[in-house]
Amino acid sequence: MANNRRDTADHYTLRARKEGYPARSVYKLEEIQQRFSIIKPGDTVLDVGAAPGSWTLYTHRKLIKGRGTIVAVDLNPLSLPAVPETVIEYTGDAFSTEIRQKLISHGPFDTIISDAAPQTTGNRSVDTSRSEYLAECVLALAVEQLKVHGNLVIKIFQGGAEMVIAAQMKKLFKRVKPFKPQASRSDSFEIFLIGMDRNAE
Ligand SMILES: C[S@@+](CC[C@H](N)C(=O)[O-])C[C@H]1O[C@@H](n2cnc3c(N)ncnc32)[C@H](O)[C@@H]1O
Repeated sequence: MANNRRDTADHYTLRARKEGYPARSVYKLEEIQQRFSIIKPGDTVLDVGAAPGSWTLYTHRKLIKGRGTIVAVDLNPLSLPAVPETVIEYTGDAFSTEIRQKLISHGPFDTIISDAAPQTTGNRSVDTSRSEYLAECVLALAVEQLKVHGNLVIKIFQGGAEMVIAAQMKKLFKRVKPFKPQASRSDSFEIFLIGMDRNAE
């Protein structure tokens, strides 16, 4: 018998299976797109922390609609039955010198989306500081590789640093909004920071 809510496949998990996505997290991106319209057909998108591949697949199918390019990077390979033709996949640490060079060879990007998350330890202060580090790395990549008018999505675990990152983003974008999708698990302390319409220098 399931003794924990995560033991039971919820509505989002069942829907993801039915629609052919490897993770329920796809519906977080769906909500982000519905609310903020961050990606359009033909865009060049960088997906950081892309595995198992739901965001990448959704972006291919529904957002760039088979046109444009998605550069997907993760420590682990994507887990898709077939990698779509719009996707360029890299496996490794997105912020290592080697992988970073490969990523930026495809830039600058119209949109950078990051669902990257550290392996959690259960210690909230350790987990939030690791998540903060990832968020800072993604923001640094965006400063360098996001086009003017481009959009950015960063996941961060709430613990205080999200306000600092949001303040930095406000210097870069016309609009910055924190967003907690309904598809986030109710016991999750993740939040997404959405930066829209990058300013010209
Ligand atoms: C929640 S999962 C992403 C799920 C994905 N958006 C999807 O819909 O399938 C978080 C991912 O971040 C990745 N990650 C964490 N640190 C990373 C790093 N330094 N470089 C690349 N990927 C990283 C993890 O390996 C993990 O697969």
